Amino acid sequence: MKVRESGMPEQSVWDSYFEPQEILQTLGLTAACQNLIEFGCGYGTFTVAAAELIGGQVIALDIDPQMLEVSAARARDQGLNNIEFKCRDFVNDGSGLPSGRMDYAMLFNILHHEQPVTLLREVYRNLSAGGCIGIIHWNHDPETPRGPPMSMRPKPEQCMMWAEQAGFIPDSGVIKLPPYHYGMVLRRPGR
Ligand SMILES: C[S@@+](CC[C@H](N)C(=O)[O-])C[C@H]1O[C@@H](n2cnc3c(N)ncnc32)[C@H](O)[C@@H]1O
Repeated sequence: MKVRESGMPEQSVWDSYFEPQEILQTLGLTAACQNLIEFGCGYGTFTVAAAELIGGQVIALDIDPQMLEVSAARARDQGLNNIEFKCRDFVNDGSGLPSGRMDYAMLFNILHHEQPVTLLREVYRNLSAGGCIGIIHWNHDPETPRGPPMSMRPKPEQCMMWAEQAGFIPDSGVIKLPPYHYGMVLRRPGR
């Protein structure tokens, strides 16, 4: 089941909203990361940037084969061979990966999902002890040029609370990611 309001504008428009490398570095991603998973890779805006930054492998999930094709072509164009793209409905079927293997998970522009804590519990399961989740979302501001309707757009403190309900502990406060986003990093405890 596709997450509500998870359609995308044209790629060039979507990409114009972000500085992916800068955002990922701000959210603590470094070359020390060996195994990263992204839930809903879209056009690969952050997938490719993450694959360039980390020392290991990226697993990118999306329900939409067209999105996966665009992302894979983008990775090929950049000469990247450390991304595995998987067509997967993570809402109904989870990631399908064994538990506790990932160092970092990206949940970007997707937490307006109907059941955010269920999704966050699946992310938690995927992470190793000490592994981190980076969350970003549209500012809770009707003036942003896109983003889910305000009635379903989570506030940063809601994202933080849902992640804590799923078992995460905060590794950062709310981080401003101008012009239109905020982010946060939380950790699976245990190391
Ligand atoms: C708003 S886009 C965000 C893309 C990317 N995370 C970014 O920030 O650039 C959401 C993406 O999640 C995908 N998606 C929605 N529901 C999904 C599901 N149930 N399983 C896997 N992917 C899903 C959509 O196809 C879309 O590509």
